[in-house]
Amino acid sequence: MTTVGGLAVDSATDEGGVGGGTVPYVGIKNIAGPANRPMPIVPLEISDGALRGIWPSVSEVTAGGDTFRLAKGELGGATYSQQWFQYCGLEVAEGLEPDPERDGFLRSKTAYDWQSQLDDGDKLRVEHFEDYESWGNNIGSDGLGKPAVATWRSQGEDVKEIQVQVLRTPVVSKMVAGEDEYSDLAGELREFLKAATDADFIAWMNRCTHLCCNPGYKTMSGSAKFEAADKVYCNCHQSVYDPFSPTTATFASRPRPQE
Ligand code: FES
Repeated sequence: MTTVGGLAVDSATDEGGVGGGTVPYVGIKNIAGPANRPMPIVPLEISDGALRGIWPSVSEVTAGGDTFRLAKGELGGATYSQQWFQYCGLEVAEGLEPDPERDGFLRSKTAYDWQSQLDDGDKLRVEHFEDYESWGNNIGSDGLGKPAVATWRSQGEDVKEIQVQVLRTPVVSKMVAGEDEYSDLAGELREFLKAATDADFIAWMNRCTHLCCNPGYKTMSGSAKFEAADKVYCNCHQSVYDPFSPTTATFASRPRPQE
């Protein structure tokens, strides 16, 4: 293992890929069920009124005799890299190739009734979420925020989809400010959230860290049985994540195919 800029990188692996290894990251906390680590946050920003995932700058890395390109940089005090998302087969997704020219906009993929007003592939825009402080869908409590499912860096024929869950919620501002029940939120997490969220939007990779299903936030009424009506619930094996509990973790990211 080689350390590059504070980031551990296993460049050569038995699987023949590059750029895997042990990686610290920030995610939404797993609070019940068999999933044993958080789902990674996807940092985002608003660009001309549309939501766009932030992609780190790309540089060439030489480690273990291999030279490869890696998207990695500092964001809100954390080391943010494409390696955060290299799990569950996503490591072979074209969208995780480091080349930053890929469209980073978060594009609607209908999962909630309200999204049917959009076509799949439309950019998600701030104006689609204007009612976020009162929105509800009869699952859990109203007013916790308005969700959407999106694809990211996934345009093109026969491209492996990278699916992201988006939530615009008043809780983001509270977490960033350390208000109310978030007064104990660590300063480093608040700093990261300030950089990784925008206009009360937060997003995370919608891929369960247990066995890779797509969980959902308020997508299944049956989630109430697992006290997950206001949480992110994976119905494959009943894992639950709390979108309002950002946390740091470490995992072994999988190598990408050699370029
Ligand atoms: S709980 Fe098993 S895949 Fe999500």
